[in-house]
Order: sequence, then C-alpha cells, then structure tokens
Amino acid sequence: MLGRLGFCVIVWLILLVFQNALLVAGDDDFVRVSGSHFVLHGRSFYSNGFNAYWLLDRASDPTQRHLVTEAFKQATEPGMSIVRTWATCGGGGQPLQLSPGKYDEDMFRGLDFVISEAKGFGVHLILSFLVNDPSYAERRVYVQWAKDRGEQLSSDDDFYRSEVVRGFYRDHVRTVISRVNTITNVTYRDDPTIFAWELMNEPRCPTDLSGKTIQDWISIMAKYVKSLDSNHLLEVGLEGFYGPSTPEKFKINPGFLVGTDYITNHQVEDINFITIHAYPDQWTPGADEEGQMNFLQNWLRSHIDDASWILRKPIMVTEFGRSSKLGHYETGQRDRMFNSVYNVVYGCARGGGPCAGALFWQLLVEGMDNYRDGYEVIMSEQPSTANIITLNSRQISGLDHGLLGSVRRLGLKN
Ligand SMILES: *[C@@H]1O[C@H](CO)[C@@H](O)[C@H](O)[C@H]1NC(C)=O
Repeated sequence: MLGRLGFCVIVWLILLVFQNALLVAGDDDFVRVSGSHFVLHGRSFYSNGFNAYWLLDRASDPTQRHLVTEAFKQATEPGMSIVRTWATCGGGGQPLQLSPGKYDEDMFRGLDFVISEAKGFGVHLILSFLVNDPSYAERRVYVQWAKDRGEQLSSDDDFYRSEVVRGFYRDHVRTVISRVNTITNVTYRDDPTIFAWELMNEPRCPTDLSGKTIQDWISIMAKYVKSLDSNHLLEVGLEGFYGPSTPEKFKINPGFLVGTDYITNHQVEDINFITIHAYPDQWTPGADEEGQMNFLQNWLRSHIDDASWILRKPIMVTEFGRSSKLGHYETGQRDRMFNSVYNVVYGCARGGGPCAGALFWQLLVEGMDNYRDGYEVIMSEQPSTANIITLNSRQISGLDHGLLGSVRRLGLKN
C-alpha cells in the first residue's frame, strides 16, 4: 500500500516537473520571460539586432518595399534577428493615424508588409506605439487633437495627464493590436513575429521631474495593453535615466533628469523587460573618447546590476550608436564603441546574467541618403563595423542556456 502511494507520489512529482518545464519552455511560438531570461521553444533567447525608423515609411510605398526586404536580408545574413521600429509613423512625415481614429490605410498596409516580411526572414519585431522625439513631436499632436475638442491643455506633458489624450492613446493601442494583417491574415495580437510592444520611444516629462506623472501613465497603460494582449511582451521604451527613488545613482546619469525613474518605472508588474539606450556622444559631449567610453561602461554595468539584483527582469540595450556628425569622428571610434557594448552584453549573457542582446541605431541600405542621420550603418559601406556586428551577432545567438540547452550540451540531443 505504502509502495503504491510512493509510486503515485513519484509519478505526480515527475508530472509536476514536466509541467513546469513546459511552462518555462512555452508550448507556442511566442517569446516568454522566465526569471530574468527570454525563452523561446524551450531555449533561452538571445539576439542582437538593429533599429530602423524608416521601415513603415518605405513599406507604405509598394515601389520602395524592396528596401525593407533588402534590410532584412543584409541583417539576417550576419546573424541579427531582432528589429525595433515604429507602429505609429514612418520617418518620412506621413503618420499612420491622420486624426483620432482615422488611419492611412497605405501606411497600415506598409506595417502589414513589414511584419509579413519579418516573418519570412525569421526576424522578431519590437513595435513602439508612439515616438517621443522632437522631430516628430507626436505627444504634441495628441495634445492638439484634445485641444481641438475643447480641452484646456497647456503643455506637451499634458499628454500623460489628460483623460481625453489617454483615451486617444488607448484607442491607438487597441487599433494596432487588433489589426488583421492584410497579407498574412493574422491579427497582430496573435502574431509571434512581434517580440514585444513598446509603450513609447524615449518617454520624458520635463514638467514633473519626480517621475510620478510618467509612473502613473506607465502603470495605467501597461495594464491596458495587457488587458488586450496577453501573448506579447511589453516594455516601456526608457533610455535609463535614474530618478528620485535612487538619488545615490544620480552620479551615473549624464547630469540631467528627464522626468523618468528607471527603477520604479521598470518595477511596474506588467512591464516584462528592461531597456536602456546609450548615447555617450550626445550625453557627455564635453568628454573625450576615453571619457565617453568610461561613461558607457559605468552606464551599462550599473543598469545590468540593477536588472540582476533589484529588478530581476531581462534587459536589452534597445538603442546605441555613435554619430559621425558629432565632435571629431573616425570609423574606429564607432567600432570601439560597438565592440564595447557587445562585449559587455555578451559577457553578461554568457555568464547567465539578464542581458539578452543589443540593437544599434540605425541600419540603412544602399540608396537611402535622405535617411542618413549620422548614426547610419550601411553594411557594405563600413566593412569594419559590419565585421564587428557579424561576429557578435553570431556569438550571442549561439548561446544556449536553460533546461534543453543543458540537455543538448550533455549530448542527449536526439
Ligand atoms: C487571406 O485571406 C484571403 C481572403 O479570404 C485569401 O484570399 C488569402 O489567400 C489569405 N492569405 C493567406 C496568406 O492566408
């Protein structure tokens, strides 16, 4: 009798272990988070990649779509497999949403194409719902829509506070998430090609440096996104500036506050992973190359430590770059900077840490001179940079931790 009970307990324990393994592994094609790692098909997921703000813009013109295809081709050959872009406007001026609830169907078909093409190349996408950038000023556009409806708003930062504007934002999120792709027929919500949604590229709120305004907004909107879509991961889009919850870390900041609080903002439960951007050339313009590299090392180390010990979520460097237009410049500087970022991220990932990859700003292909912003990398034009990208992208995507990875390493692979 006891023997049979013991047997049952053992079977039950085995089933429990299996069930947990399956939960961790995920039994579908969506990337999940397990502890401070991404997991896909039972393997830890690591990937380097690139930013391309122009994908939606070029894809909305059928005669220009080959540029999107070419970018995916040039990126996947050297082993990149994650791309971050906008689900809101192209870089060319035309927005996806013309006025509240009114969308440009050509632009949306462009986004359909980007997603369908990414799927074909086995590329994952991070899609941002809004771009907070002085040159697009999307928050201002939303605030203006509310003013047009009689709202009394005085600042772009009312974007975060106005209930009417929050409603516009929610409507946009819902429209994108529930879009049925006209090429694949797959609803965006159900498409595992999308790696993650991003609430906003580089949120800032200069009129409330306490970080509270943005904190409230993130909590509300993260919950909203998750209520519509539990398949996809979600991140904020933060650059990484520390705020008042961690004054001892102000010395890591490049000397200014932007109204975000990196730690508390990322502690929001519905936020699945952490992002940082790294622009020593813009943030420490007075420093020489050595000074900028020191800043970069401290910036990366500090945020990785936070991810490991405080936040316990995966971290990605979702933007880094070196402009050819700032200060004294030669290609070697960009190469050293790229190497530095890649080495830190790879070392962290290889050691079982929370780093999952790095995405440089920005990839262009030949014949896109209008889109040059000083940060562009064209693989054929900068062979030394391309070599660094290739080496590091292959290296990190080859990492294989986790349960099944261990089994593979033990040689038990079927
Ligand atoms: C999408 O649906 C349309 C209309 O039902 C159909 O003609 C087309 O073949 C479908 N495409 C795919 C990729 O399933």
